[in-house]
Amino acid sequence: MSNDEHNIIPSRRRFVQLAAFGAIGLNGCAVAPASGAATVPTPGDWPEADDEFWKMVRRQYPLTRERTYLNTGGLGPATYAALDAMRAAQMELQRISEHGHSRFRRIRESAAAFLGVGADEVAFMRNATEGNATIASGIKLSAGDEVIFESHAHPGGAIPWMTRQKEDGIRVKIFDPDPSSADGNLERIASLITPRTRVVQVSHITAPTGIVMPVADIAKLCRDRGLYFHVDGAQSCGAIPFNLRDIGCDSYAACGHKWLGAPHGTGLLYVRRERLDDVVPTEVGAYSNGDYELPSTFDYNDTAQRYEPGTRDVTSVIGMQTAMEFMTSIGMDRVAEYTRGLGVYLQEQLAALDGVEVLTPADPMLRGGMTTYKIRGTKYDDLYRHLFNNHRLRCRVVSEQGLDALRVSTHIFNSKADCDRVVEGTRELLV
Ligand SMILES: Cc1ncc(COP(=O)(O)O)c(C=O)c1O
Repeated sequence: MSNDEHNIIPSRRRFVQLAAFGAIGLNGCAVAPASGAATVPTPGDWPEADDEFWKMVRRQYPLTRERTYLNTGGLGPATYAALDAMRAAQMELQRISEHGHSRFRRIRESAAAFLGVGADEVAFMRNATEGNATIASGIKLSAGDEVIFESHAHPGGAIPWMTRQKEDGIRVKIFDPDPSSADGNLERIASLITPRTRVVQVSHITAPTGIVMPVADIAKLCRDRGLYFHVDGAQSCGAIPFNLRDIGCDSYAACGHKWLGAPHGTGLLYVRRERLDDVVPTEVGAYSNGDYELPSTFDYNDTAQRYEPGTRDVTSVIGMQTAMEFMTSIGMDRVAEYTRGLGVYLQEQLAALDGVEVLTPADPMLRGGMTTYKIRGTKYDDLYRHLFNNHRLRCRVVSEQGLDALRVSTHIFNSKADCDRVVEGTRELLV
């Protein structure tokens, strides 16, 4: 079933599906949400009526109440259901001492449906970096060839290319992302393209300030110019709805251990079927192969499984499948509506404080659930420490590119009250 189909499931049925994940009580049906339309809430339009529903969602996570967790952009908690599924599979497989690789087929199909692509185009990774590095190390490039990405790229997206610059003499060209306009980002990329450009990469949502990049437009630009286009989806998978086929990128790397709520050490890599032979597998071994006979017969596996050599931990991937089912049962449109709504709510209040500057785009269409802000004249680590030590608010410092700011991630287990605490704590530093 596609994400879209899930989003038109009547709310009561969807809620009962969610109840099937365990800790949710069925007595909550009376407050089941209205069906998840993909609208961006305006500040006065906050869906208060859904409070009980989101409290129940919150109870699906084993998060301690001793602190308020606002760092899903760094690492997201897994749900009880995902952890239970992983543990059960671990015990079952250890008892018979089997690796359980046959389970990958079904999970690959689910993951492909979640991403909107074919099962033969999906590989399981341990994190987003591994997916990014598979692309960066696998594309054939010569010295002097150019790769464009944004200056706000996470090291997990940038370092694989920096390594090729160092080792192979390719040239990295970077642009500062435009926080105010999708077209601005497109223009900044276009202005860097030369006859030597081979690859463009962007973060789907940038890590430091949470800018949503116009990936479909960039994909078109790259197609028109004959360039390879890779998306680092570490901050988008499980955060916003998308369909990779519609986006039209050549590849996409993501992790499960942020917004998706999957166990640590999980990730996905999509490589468009037509591009599989353009991304040479650099880590290879058993399972990377198709025909194989020593000494002279060897073909790559004709699917993206070529990027998965050796024995794998299927149990964390089983946990990731449960996490995807959980997100789908809520509906990705609704997840994004809620988390973006919280972000907009937080941003509005922070922006109203004298001395505070919000770096995340004001346009709701250019942002997801992350809000980055700074207090003029206050060091980012003082702000971080004040909120953590005095209010038990776990945010994340943003020291990249001299931004000197703090990032607050609001996910489906967070609430307006969490945002209010951030605002109150921040206000204390202003007096
Ligand atoms: C945009 C981006 N890319 C890559 C990464 C690295 O993710 P992982 O630790 O799963 O490799 C992150 C982590 O914050 C990120 O935000």
